[in-house]
Amino acid sequence: MDVEGLKSRLAEANQEHLMKYWDQLSDSEKSQLYNELNHLDFKEINGFFKSAMEDLASASEKLDDLLEPLPKEVCGRVVNTQQEDLLQYDVDGLTEIGESRVAVLLLAGGQGTRLGVPYPKGMYNVGLPSGKTLYQLQAERLLKLQRLGEAVTGSSCKIPWYIMTSEHTKQATLDFFKKNQYFGLQEEDVVLFEQSLLPCIGFDGKIILEKPHKVALAPDGNGGLYRALHKSGVLKNMEARGIKYVHVYCVDNILVKMADPIFIGFCMSKGANCGAKVVEKAFPTEAVGVVCKVEGKYQVVEYSEITLKTAEKRDANGRLMFNAGNICNHFFTLDFLKFVSEPTQEKQLKHHVAKKKIPYVSEEDSKVTLKPDSPNGIKMEKFVFDVFHFATDRSFAVWEVIREDEFAPLKNADTADKDTPTTCRRSLLNLHHRYLLAAGAEFVDKDGNLIPHIPSQKKGEEKGSGDRQKGEDEAMFVESEISPLVSYAGEGLQKLVEGRKFTTPVHLSQDFTMDEPEIVEGEW
Ligand code: UTP
Repeated sequence: MDVEGLKSRLAEANQEHLMKYWDQLSDSEKSQLYNELNHLDFKEINGFFKSAMEDLASASEKLDDLLEPLPKEVCGRVVNTQQEDLLQYDVDGLTEIGESRVAVLLLAGGQGTRLGVPYPKGMYNVGLPSGKTLYQLQAERLLKLQRLGEAVTGSSCKIPWYIMTSEHTKQATLDFFKKNQYFGLQEEDVVLFEQSLLPCIGFDGKIILEKPHKVALAPDGNGGLYRALHKSGVLKNMEARGIKYVHVYCVDNILVKMADPIFIGFCMSKGANCGAKVVEKAFPTEAVGVVCKVEGKYQVVEYSEITLKTAEKRDANGRLMFNAGNICNHFFTLDFLKFVSEPTQEKQLKHHVAKKKIPYVSEEDSKVTLKPDSPNGIKMEKFVFDVFHFATDRSFAVWEVIREDEFAPLKNADTADKDTPTTCRRSLLNLHHRYLLAAGAEFVDKDGNLIPHIPSQKKGEEKGSGDRQKGEDEAMFVESEISPLVSYAGEGLQKLVEGRKFTTPVHLSQDFTMDEPEIVEGEW
């Protein structure tokens, strides 16, 4: 350990307080702190802090005058696309999948602080009849999609799954996949890599110590992806496998259609190298970022960055002018990913600043870590969508899908009223109910009475098991779950359910250990 060298680097960067407890540390603590500090580039971090604070100072300036709506040519909507075009996109996407030219990339390095569980969000079970976790649902969607791709091309294919983790999620995620035999996927096709951490910094520019021998560190945002791609060798791995297209998505959307062939086919039809799947913003004040143009460049603009007047603007059809709600669901060509991950481009992506309550070592007693009541510093994060900036009119595509079919994120614990385990579970059961109705199934209740297709709400019924709460208004849903191994997006169900009456709840169950689906009725 070159302790003196480290001390002088710290002094140069005005961060020498980080070693103020050095003499009190045990040998192992010393080496932990030394390693942590030795890996940090203080000059770079001070630079990040300076520009982050400048951005914070100008954060109240609104972007209204710089905003432009999306050009029509880059946009498509599932609801007004001809059936034959949708089929063509689907076949085109499935062909690429069948040729093993598509990969998926999961952003799973977040700390999930709002959900508040001590394990990675992907391991969360929202209380479905199957008890499947988000990771298992996603793994099974991939398995099924591989089969659908193979059916189109007639040869075997793979969809490699790249999972970006952080120090907080890596080991637990790896252990979970191993314990569950990768849910039937091949181990070598699930590639974990790690994003970087950045120190949390007090408003005075001093890096915060969480413990005498530990810096307060946080992942550098989902836009840390590009730096991690550059450092990790993942791009080379993709190249070696012959990947051309990459679908990037967040861990928490329970409805996510990974490597959605229609989205891929649509982006290909536009010749895009960068694409965003969006949902229509529900109302002007909805707290969702919208994809639009700012000074001629594609960007996601948060609701807080525009005035209400702009958020309320409508086009000639009465739709909100800025309505392309970002759902963190992106298409990239590998060439585009390689380009934006180069340091010259990556360094142009700004850090977004969030004021946070960051635990810190007590001045009175260094053995105690204090949790502040109000923000005492900042976390700096890059955002995955900031690379839209590098796309042009000819290389960008925006595909609007139906929210109820494709977007239900898990952000909060059940004490909140939106984006909770309950809302996610309901969204999935509701979607699967609609898949079964469309395939010709009917549903009857315990007494054999036919349930209307749109059942009315019954309040306060106490329901079965899982982590569901007593007295939820769950009776408004016909509880139906379909294993992704049975159907990826509603296809192939007719032969199983058409003309049949099912007693709810109904579960078309299958996992990778089963050759055939099993239909379980009337019990949960
Ligand atoms: P969120 O911004 O919702 O963060 O992440 P989160 O960590 O899930 O939850 P909170 O804010 O702490 O409650 C959106 C997606 O980006 C990923 C998350 O794992 C999630 O899939 N993410 C976020 C990263 O991969 N790295 C990060 O540094 C931050």
